[in-house]
Amino acid sequence: MDVEECLKEWEDLGTDYKRLESINKDYAAKLEEVGELQASCLKELSHQRYRMSVITGALKRLEKKGVTKDERVATLEKEVMKRKAMLHEIEATLPKQNSLYLRIILGNVNVSILNKNDKFKYKDEYEKFKLILSVIAFVLAVLNLYIDFRPLQLILIFLLVWYYCTLTIRESILKVNGSRIKGWWRLHHFISTVVAGILLIWPQNVPWSEFRHTFMWFIAYISVVQYMQFRYQSGVLYRLKALGARHNMDITIEGFHSWMWRGLSYLLPFLFGGYVFQLYIAYTLYQLSYHPEATWQVPYLAAMFLVLHSGNMYTILSTMQKKTQSGLELRYRLRAIAYRLSNELTILEQKWRPNKTEQKTD
Ligand code: COA
Repeated sequence: MDVEECLKEWEDLGTDYKRLESINKDYAAKLEEVGELQASCLKELSHQRYRMSVITGALKRLEKKGVTKDERVATLEKEVMKRKAMLHEIEATLPKQNSLYLRIILGNVNVSILNKNDKFKYKDEYEKFKLILSVIAFVLAVLNLYIDFRPLQLILIFLLVWYYCTLTIRESILKVNGSRIKGWWRLHHFISTVVAGILLIWPQNVPWSEFRHTFMWFIAYISVVQYMQFRYQSGVLYRLKALGARHNMDITIEGFHSWMWRGLSYLLPFLFGGYVFQLYIAYTLYQLSYHPEATWQVPYLAAMFLVLHSGNMYTILSTMQKKTQSGLELRYRLRAIAYRLSNELTILEQKWRPNKTEQKTD
């Protein structure tokens, strides 16, 4: 290129730049519009919640006064439940403030995932992350059962500190994005981080040598249970997604329900086995705390394993009780519908012409 050509190119590029400027102007205006729409959605959402709380409060007062519950009230209660589930799904499409824990760790960066498919991918990745780490922990635990080598023990325990710490962050992000994960499972992972931290600084003494094998068996056992949990959770995730898919012919809500119970009846005995193991560890550590060489770590760990056992037992029993209640099918039906609605929104976003929605799970 000579100078003349360079000048001509520059002039040409000027026209292209004008085009870029106008696209960017459109983009900035749309961003502003999106911000305004998000704010008015949030306002309408709290309006809905406020008026619903007034209605449910009035219904409760009527029940207390002994007014008999007729068919109209039963239908209204069902409608309120449906609306609550739909509001939860609408909320999931709006940006949310980070929890205090995330603000401390990540600062004020936005971790809201507004598209359901991206949420699905994030959850799927979280389950796979747990699986990979469980495989590594299993291998290290088995090695530690056969080889008495302190650095190998420390590698496993340090891996556990990092793993549980990472889980608490990922689960907080899932929670911000509308996951219904129970507070106990998140607290369980916070406590497990502390347990692993204390194990890391437990000095190499006689009580440790006596406890080491039990601990390695426990890690190997929960890694296998984790693999079973992975099979169950990814099954739930893929079936819910399939339920929400348009033109879905393979799965019905009743089919999903019976699959879920089959999966649970296979998983639950192993979970209870894990909780009995935790109780046994708490007891072993309690006994070891009377050993003359026992350091402060031993009784603290005993108490923590007892807390983990009790919390797990209580939460799993209340989860099972909830699952046997009659509203469960309706709740899953609504979640499937929410998947379908968001799929349709994505399709609309991509400017596809929507076809007639099939009504299988309605
Ligand atoms: N860890 C992470 N997330 C969990 C979870 C756990 N232990 N248990 C449930 N969740 C999530 C579900 O994936 C679901 O998420 P979503 O809202 O994003 O879809 C949400 O919490 C609600 O789940 P829920 O319907 O209450 O239960 P479920 O059918 O998905 O799972 C169990 C029920 C019992 C299988 C499950 O809670 C579990 O495996 N618990 C045992 C965990 C444990 O004890 N581990 C240690 C072994 S020693």
